[in-house]
Amino acid sequence: MKFLPIITAFAVTAVIAAPTKERARCVATSFEQISGTKICSTIAIRGPFTVPANKMVDLTGLKSGTTITITGTITFAKGNLDKNHDLITIGGSNIKIDGTKGTLDGSGPQYWDGKGGNGGINKPKFIRLRKMSGSITGLTVLNSPVHTFAINGCNGITLTNITIDNRGPKYALGHNTDGFDVSSSSGVTIVGAKVYNNDDCLALNSGTNIAFVGNYCNGGHGISIGSIKAGAIVDGVSLTGNTVVNSANAVRIKAYANATGGKVNNVTYADTTLSGITNYGVIIQQDYTNEGATGKPGGAAPITNVNLYNIHGTMTKKGQSVYILCAKCSNFNFQKIAITGGSVAPKCAGIAPKPSGC
Ligand SMILES: *[C@@H]1O[C@H](CO)[C@@H](O)[C@H](O)[C@H]1NC(C)=O
Ligand SMILES: *[C@@H]1O[C@H](CO)[C@@H](O)[C@H](O)[C@H]1NC(C)=O
Ligand SMILES: *[C@@H]1O[C@H](CO)[C@@H](O)[C@H](O)[C@H]1NC(C)=O
Repeated sequence: MKFLPIITAFAVTAVIAAPTKERARCVATSFEQISGTKICSTIAIRGPFTVPANKMVDLTGLKSGTTITITGTITFAKGNLDKNHDLITIGGSNIKIDGTKGTLDGSGPQYWDGKGGNGGINKPKFIRLRKMSGSITGLTVLNSPVHTFAINGCNGITLTNITIDNRGPKYALGHNTDGFDVSSSSGVTIVGAKVYNNDDCLALNSGTNIAFVGNYCNGGHGISIGSIKAGAIVDGVSLTGNTVVNSANAVRIKAYANATGGKVNNVTYADTTLSGITNYGVIIQQDYTNEGATGKPGGAAPITNVNLYNIHGTMTKKGQSVYILCAKCSNFNFQKIAITGGSVAPKCAGIAPKPSGC
């Protein structure tokens, strides 16, 4: 009883002191200050500052409902981390990130050697969202060493108005600079992104209930489902209102012939505008390998219920509007396919009946 007043006085002091202390701790203006912000539910990360070489920003384990505002430019100095590392990892539930005034620069040109993720200089992936739900809005991401966003094990996440620009000096040597790689996730919506890169704009490796809406893809390999490997399931995908410019392909589903236990089902690509497509307007293949197509499709991962509606635009002269090579595909429903300019006749093998456009 005797100590009670002292304890009360101490508690009151602590309560009064807490807000000021927390505010200071919740603002990071350097790499070193970021880890200390993780106890806060409102975090401000303010550039300009540089994350030193070989350091990674760890924003996992955030408190549920945390809001993060990123402003200014945060540059990641070139280091020697390989593709099994990520320059930033973010995780937590109901996290809201406002990056409208923020830029992340991965120093890509200092890594780019034309070998991408397949060799040469070690290259870390840029941003991993791991078991994150919530949203990211308006972030600008420049010069990713290799893959830009890896969205992994996320359930209920919306990415809005993100710009990815991997066109720095030596752009042509910046291989495998994927925009968004999605795996083992559900309820992912990507809307209003602008992606300038040198590989897939979207690579949906596995996931359910995925929406990719009103995005602009320039310079890469197109909007891809896959590559599907053993056990990878993609089910329930809506890709609508997208524009694909100066890219190898526009609409693509790629599966390994031997992808046992995998499948692709219920995919709709609608209202897609193309221009300057060099290889395929639409390509659906069950003979994919990272080293190139084999010409020998396999049906270990069936591709079913694929709807294409209003896919229109232009290709360069060596292009082919529609190419399908399947071993086990069914229920393809194509309508309003109007892809002009390519000189190679469309070809659809291993699918019956042949969808319109073939
Ligand atoms: C995204 O950009 C569009 C077009 O500028 C704008 O209308 C919309 O409000 C933005 N969305 C968000 C969540 O900021
Ligand atoms: C197909 O996927 C969409 C999401 O893109 C979903 O809304 C719809 O219910 C799915 N259809 C079936 C038959 O499962
Ligand atoms: C599947 O095929 C690819 C490409 O040919 C090969 O690299 C991989 O080892 C194969 N996987 C299995 C499980 O056979």
